Amino acid sequence: MVIKGVSFLNEPKANSSIAVGVYADGSLSKNAANFDLKFNSIISKNIKKAQFSGKLFDSFSFVSTEDTVNRFVVIGLGEVGKKFTEFELKKLGATVYTCASKLDSSITIAIDAEDLNTSYESSPAYIGFGALLKSWDFDKYKSSKNKDIKLQSVSVLTSAPQIAENCFLELQKIAEGIFLTRTVVSEPANVIYPESLAEIAKNELSSLGVKVDILNQTDMKKLEMNALLGVAQGSSNEPKLVVLHWNGGNSSEKPIAFVGKGVTFDSGGISLKPGDGMHEMRCDMAGSGTVLGLLKAVALNKLPINVVGVMALVENMPSGTAQRPGDIVKSMSGQTIEVLNTDAEGRLVLADALWYTQSKFSPKVMIDLATLTGAIVVALGHEFAGLFSNNDDLADKIIESSIKIGEKVWRLPLTKHFDKGIDSDRADMQNIGKPSVRGGSITAAQFLKRFVNNVDWAHIDIAGVESTSDDLFICAKGATGFGVHLLYHFLRENYTKL
Ligand code: BES
Ligand code: ZN
Ligand code: MG
Repeated sequence: MVIKGVSFLNEPKANSSIAVGVYADGSLSKNAANFDLKFNSIISKNIKKAQFSGKLFDSFSFVSTEDTVNRFVVIGLGEVGKKFTEFELKKLGATVYTCASKLDSSITIAIDAEDLNTSYESSPAYIGFGALLKSWDFDKYKSSKNKDIKLQSVSVLTSAPQIAENCFLELQKIAEGIFLTRTVVSEPANVIYPESLAEIAKNELSSLGVKVDILNQTDMKKLEMNALLGVAQGSSNEPKLVVLHWNGGNSSEKPIAFVGKGVTFDSGGISLKPGDGMHEMRCDMAGSGTVLGLLKAVALNKLPINVVGVMALVENMPSGTAQRPGDIVKSMSGQTIEVLNTDAEGRLVLADALWYTQSKFSPKVMIDLATLTGAIVVALGHEFAGLFSNNDDLADKIIESSIKIGEKVWRLPLTKHFDKGIDSDRADMQNIGKPSVRGGSITAAQFLKRFVNNVDWAHIDIAGVESTSDDLFICAKGATGFGVHLLYHFLRENYTKL
C-alpha cells in the first residue's frame, strides 16, 4: 500500500518514530545532536552499542526510552561534507521507509538539508518523494495483503515547510505517473491487451486535458502500416495506436514526441520463445506504459509545452493467421522488410510508429522507449538502459537528467557498419542481424534509424530496467516505472525554462 501522506513540519510529530543521520566518522548530524542533548545521549549511546558504521545508507533502529518518541531510526550519511544529489535524496527517503515500514505507523525524518549539503527548497521534498516511491507495491491480486506494513505517514522536518510542500506537489504528481506506469506494466496480459490499454489511457488522461485519439486496425490499414499490422495478425486482439496530445504550449510550437513499444504479450509468434520465462513478456509493453505515465505526469503538472505520446499496441501470437518467417512486408515508409524472425517484432512495430509520428507531427525531438532486445541485458545488465541517438546534444541532455535522477542510461554507437547486418537479398532490409555482425542491440537501433528522417531522435532500450527481480533502493520487486522521472526531468530542464 502506498503511504497515505507525506507532510513537512518544523516540529517532529508526537508519538511517532524519528529518523536521524550519522556520518561515517561517527559524528551526529545537526538534529541527531539536538536529540542526543535533549535525551541524555540516547543516540550516541545506541550507535556505540550497535557499532553502527555510518556508511552511506546503512541503517538500524532502536526503541526509545523517551515517552514522546517511539523509536529512533539511524541512517548512515557517509563522509562528512558529502553533497547529496536528487537521486541520493530519493534513496535516503526510501531507506527510511524500508527500515521503518514494519515498525511504526508514523515517522518523522529529521535530517536537515544543511547536513546533506543540499538546498532547503528541494531537499525535504525529494526525501519524501523517495519514501513515497518505495512504498508502492502491486498487491491487487493477493487476497491477503501484506499485514506487516505499518507505516502510513511520513513527515520530513524542515525550517521551511511551505516551500518544501510546494516542491513536493510537483514530485507527487510525477509519482502518480510512475505508479500508473508500474501498474500497467505489472498487470498480466489477460488484463492488458491493446484495446484495454487504450481504454485505460483514455480514462486516465482525458479528464486531465490530454486529447486521446485511438486508431484501430482499419485506420492503420489505410495508413499502410503493414509492418505493425503483420505483427498483430496472429492475435485475436485487434491492434491499437493510441495518440496522446498534451497542448500546454503555444499552438505554433512543434511538439516533443515520445513513442513506446507496446507489445502487450510477446510470445515470439511463429518463432516461438522457449517456455521458461515467457510469462515475463507481459512486460513487453513497458515502453508504451512509460509514455502513458510520462504524459500523466506532464498533464498533472501542466507543463507549458506541447507533447505527443504514441503508444503502439499489438499482441504477438502464433496462430493460423500469424505472420510467417520469410514473409515480406511493406512498411508505411515504403521500405520493404523481410521478417526472418517473428520474435524481432518490436522493431517492426516501431518502424511504422516512428514513421507515422515524424510525418504526422513534425516533432522537434522524437524519443522512443522499447523493451527491444535481450542483448541489451547482456551488455548493460539491469543497471543501465541503452541509449542511442543521431544527435550528440540530445544524447548529452538525456544523460545529464539520467545522472541527476538516477535512472541510468549508457550510450551505445549507431554506425553504418551495422547496416551490413540488416541488408537483405530479397527486400530492403531484414528484421534480424546477420550472425557475422553481432551487436544485437545496435543492429536493432540501426534498423529503427532507417525509419527516422531529419529529426533529432533518441532510442532507449529498457529491456533490462523496466522491472526488477530484486528489491531496489527506491523500488520494490516488480515494475520500476523507469523513464518517467528521467524524461519528465529532461522536459522540465530543457524546454520549460526560458
Ligand atoms: N521483447 C523481446 C526483447 C526482450 C528480451 C525484452 C528479454 C525483455 C527481456 C524482443 O521482442 C525480442 O524477442 N527480441 C529478440 C530479437 C532477436 C530475435 C533478434 C531477442 O532479443 O532475442
Ligand atoms: Zn518483444
Ligand atoms: Mg520478440
